[in-house]
Amino acid sequence: MVIGKLALFLLYAFLCQLVFSSSLPHLCPNDQALALLQFNHTFTINGFDASYRSYYPKTVKWNRSTDCCSWDGVLCDEMTGQVIELDLSSSQLRGKFHSNSSLFKLSNLKRLDLSDNDFFESLIPPKFGELSSLTHLDLSHSNFTGPIPAEISRLSKLHVLSIKSHSYELRFEPHNFELLLKNLTQLRELDLSFANISSTIPLNFSSYLTTLDLLNTQLYGILPEGVFHLSNLESLDLSENPQLTVRFPTTKWNSSASLMELYLRSVNATGRIPESFGYLTSLRTLRIASCNLSGSIPKPLWNLTNIEDLDLDDNHLEGPISDFFRFGKLWWLSLGNNNFDGQLEFLSFNRSWTQLGKLDFSSNFLTGPIPSNVSGMQNLYSLILSSNHLNGTIPSWIFSLPSLAGLHLNDNHFSGNIQEFKSKTLTRVSLKQNQLQGPSPKSLLNQRDLHYLVLSHNNLSGEIASTICNLKTLQVLDLGSTNLEGTIPLCLGEMSELMILDLSNNSLSGTINTTFSIGNELVVIKFDGNKLEGKVPQSLINCRYLEVLDLGTNKLSDIFPKWLGALPELQILNLRSNKFYGPIKDSRTDNLFAQIRVIDLSSNGFSGDLPERLFENFEAMKITSDNSGTREYVADIYENFYTSLIVTTKGLELELPRVLTTDIIIDLSRNRFEGHIPSIIGDLIGLRTLNLSHNVLEGDIPASLHQLYVLESLDLSSNKISGEIPQQLALLTSLEVLNLSHNHHVGCIPKGKQFDTFENSSYQGNDGLRGFPLSKDCGGDDGVPQTTTPVELDEEGGGDSPMISWQAVLMGYGCGLVIGLSIIYIMLSTQYPTWFSRMDVELEHKILTRMKRHKKRH
Ligand SMILES: *[C@@H]1O[C@H](CO)[C@@H](O)[C@H](O)[C@H]1NC(C)=O
Ligand SMILES: *[C@@H]1O[C@H](CO)[C@@H](O)[C@H](O)[C@H]1NC(C)=O
Ligand SMILES: *[C@@H]1O[C@H](CO)[C@@H](O)[C@H](O)[C@H]1NC(C)=O
Ligand SMILES: *[C@@H]1O[C@H](CO)[C@@H](O)[C@H](O)[C@H]1NC(C)=O
Ligand SMILES: *[C@@H]1O[C@H](CO)[C@@H](O)[C@H](O)[C@H]1NC(C)=O
Ligand SMILES: *[C@@H]1O[C@H](CO)[C@@H](O)[C@H](O)[C@H]1NC(C)=O
Ligand SMILES: *[C@@H]1O[C@H](CO)[C@@H](O)[C@H](O)[C@H]1NC(C)=O
Ligand SMILES: *[C@@H]1O[C@H](CO)[C@@H](O)[C@H](O)[C@H]1NC(C)=O
Ligand SMILES: *[C@@H]1O[C@H](CO)[C@@H](O)[C@H](O)[C@H]1NC(C)=O
Ligand SMILES: *[C@@H]1O[C@H](CO)[C@@H](O)[C@H](O)[C@H]1NC(C)=O
Ligand SMILES: *[C@@H]1O[C@H](CO)[C@@H](O)[C@H](O)[C@H]1NC(C)=O
Repeated sequence: MVIGKLALFLLYAFLCQLVFSSSLPHLCPNDQALALLQFNHTFTINGFDASYRSYYPKTVKWNRSTDCCSWDGVLCDEMTGQVIELDLSSSQLRGKFHSNSSLFKLSNLKRLDLSDNDFFESLIPPKFGELSSLTHLDLSHSNFTGPIPAEISRLSKLHVLSIKSHSYELRFEPHNFELLLKNLTQLRELDLSFANISSTIPLNFSSYLTTLDLLNTQLYGILPEGVFHLSNLESLDLSENPQLTVRFPTTKWNSSASLMELYLRSVNATGRIPESFGYLTSLRTLRIASCNLSGSIPKPLWNLTNIEDLDLDDNHLEGPISDFFRFGKLWWLSLGNNNFDGQLEFLSFNRSWTQLGKLDFSSNFLTGPIPSNVSGMQNLYSLILSSNHLNGTIPSWIFSLPSLAGLHLNDNHFSGNIQEFKSKTLTRVSLKQNQLQGPSPKSLLNQRDLHYLVLSHNNLSGEIASTICNLKTLQVLDLGSTNLEGTIPLCLGEMSELMILDLSNNSLSGTINTTFSIGNELVVIKFDGNKLEGKVPQSLINCRYLEVLDLGTNKLSDIFPKWLGALPELQILNLRSNKFYGPIKDSRTDNLFAQIRVIDLSSNGFSGDLPERLFENFEAMKITSDNSGTREYVADIYENFYTSLIVTTKGLELELPRVLTTDIIIDLSRNRFEGHIPSIIGDLIGLRTLNLSHNVLEGDIPASLHQLYVLESLDLSSNKISGEIPQQLALLTSLEVLNLSHNHHVGCIPKGKQFDTFENSSYQGNDGLRGFPLSKDCGGDDGVPQTTTPVELDEEGGGDSPMISWQAVLMGYGCGLVIGLSIIYIMLSTQYPTWFSRMDVELEHKILTRMKRHKKRH
């Protein structure tokens, strides 16, 4: 019995199988298979990048002897066998996509995904418009270029359309974007990021939209409010459309229940955040940075308990950040670069911070201490409170955060000692510009992954422990202005990853006998403002990537280290205020100092003729590039890390917080150079500052200097230069400050242009000079002889022009300058004339968040 039943069952099962398999139609008609194979044959397979897991050539596995409906990426209609879906995304297809492609024979396609291939800058064939059954079309990131054809608008069944590009390779012809939105009435998802749409957003669009992604598409005009009332909208990204004006609804949004992601970075949303944001109860991501928002954060916004990602950076928001927080799921909170004030005590109100990864309140006006009893931030990896007015000690919980990688507390008023670090995950630490005291704790020097250590402008004191060299991964070490003494550790030259080494403005002494090893990565070395003695170490020649060498204001005693000219990238060489001596041996050697932009040898004991043939080598100074384009900075290798430099220009000693590649300066003042001014200097047409003052130069001013058409500051004072001032110098229309005082000039001062603006002090101490502005008339054509009593010139440094008194202010501060400079910033910004605004003095205000490796290197 049992066996009989079993046999019956088996028979039944067998029959079932037979019936079902025979009822299956023969799938994949020949023409469909052929079309697919032909399509595949127009491409090759791009072998690279195969490392991505989702990225493999699906067509390689296609097997001609099997049913095409079983091929990878192919789906057929069960009844007709027609191919209805083709997914060849990330399939490494390479080649031109022709308009006669056999793909268009697959006329029943409903879903087509060709994204992430390389179609060699083909145009998108208008024939796509004939695939009228399509509900899903994805042509993103496939190296299509040119216009998005109007025919796409015929695909009126589309639910999903995605044609993302990288940087405007794709564009819409006028009105086609409007047509597209008007005709595709069934659209759910639209992504055209980085296409050049260059249009307004029309009023008519599909009411089914759930996702609208138009990031960086050159949109302009006013965003129709209707977008916010799409009742199914889940994600809206209109970021990076600065010409697009966005006005938020002030009443309840129809999308309020569905909207989960709102990305509006860098649009024009001038005005306040309306209270209506409180209705967006599903919101998880709110990124509205750089939108020109003002006012305070409306209280209802703090009710959005589902928020995970909140970025309001870089607006003009104000008021306390305060205790409205009810967020429990936050992992990213960024409120930097606003006008928030108040204190941080709410951090200790025992909210749920467990998810929080990044907290950025930088560049606001927060005051008071960081509370000492904050807990639960076990996932915090980035804490950025820089550039506020916070004070008190840095509480110990910060040093114990188990996941912390980036700690940026710079530019505040923190005091006390830096405590022992218990966290082991740190990669970036910036405590710059506080009132912290040293010595730096041992545990800091045991952070094995540390890349970035910036402790400058504090009161660390003591010596630099050579254990600092245990930080093998260190790329930036800035201990400038920290009251350190002792010698420079020898081992610093062996740190193989180090790119920026700043020990400036301390009391370091002894000789620099650090040996810089072959193959080092140093780009910036700043030892200026110490008491270093001896010679320039020969091993600096191993710093092949060095762009900035600043040894100014020390007691170095050496002849001119001409061999440094062999460093191929060297752009700034500062040896000012040392005891360098002797003539500068002069020779024309190709590529010596070819990249030099700032050379400051002032206040030393150099003698002999000016190094005429050396000037010939200064190739980078023979180019002018105007300042209007994108500004480039010397040694700009780390985002938000700037290399400062003290320079004398326009009669002022000042600190440039960062140096533009167009700040081209030769300063050989205050030495014992003699002989003539070589006319070759006229070839260095990029020069903005030339200072040869306080030497014993003689002869005439070479007329060739009139070629220096971007020159802003020319100081030849206190020499024995004679002859007339060349009339051609009136062509120097950029010249803002001229000082020819205390020489032996004779004759008439040139007239016109800038020369109408210079004052007596520019010429005093040249008995033979006549003409405006001096009282001695030059005769000639300006008619009325001077009848006023000649004004006696002030002997000591020239009258009471504001510039000179600045110098006095500054000298009082010696080379420390920080305080002096901030005084200048304040005073100059309120009352100094326009030329100062061109000085490219930009205050560092943002902190480092990301690292950018040196572009030339990799
Ligand atoms: C598809 O094209 C690739 C590249 O030309 C080739 O390697 C592969 O064999 C083709 N597939 C079929 C089934 O012909
Ligand atoms: C193609 O399929 C046939 C039949 O299933 C099989 O015998 C053959 O080995 C397959 N070819 C490849 C290259 O996989
Ligand atoms: C398709 O067009 C391309 C370019 O116009 C041409 O080279 C190719 O021969 C055409 N193919 C067919 C099958 O017509
Ligand atoms: C796009 O196609 C062009 C022309 O064939 C090619 O040079 C370029 O590398 C491709 N770009 C990408 C991102 O594949
Ligand atoms: C708009 O869609 C309709 C079908 O809904 C179609 O007939 C018409 O040609 C389309 N217009 C354009 C310009 O594509
Ligand atoms: C975008 O397109 C507009 C109009 O076609 C054009 O004027 C503009 O230069 C384009 N912008 C870019 C960045 O390609
Ligand atoms: C387009 O929008 C206007 C104004 O909102 C409306 O009157 C019109 O009916 C819409 N047209 C279509 C085709 O939806
Ligand atoms: C930005 O929006 C404000 C207020 O809506 C408007 O006055 C201003 O003209 C807009 N600016 C631009 C560049 O569109
Ligand atoms: C915010 O939450 C508080 C407390 O739960 C509630 O009293 C208030 O009405 C809420 N505000 C809005 C706009 O939802
Ligand atoms: C911190 O600053 C506040 C003023 O904002 C001041 O009242 C307080 O005394 C300061 N605390 C410390 C420790 O300096
Ligand atoms: C390094 O310089 C100091 C003086 O500053 C000197 O005493 C010492 O011998 C030097 N070391 C080497 C290895 O040259």
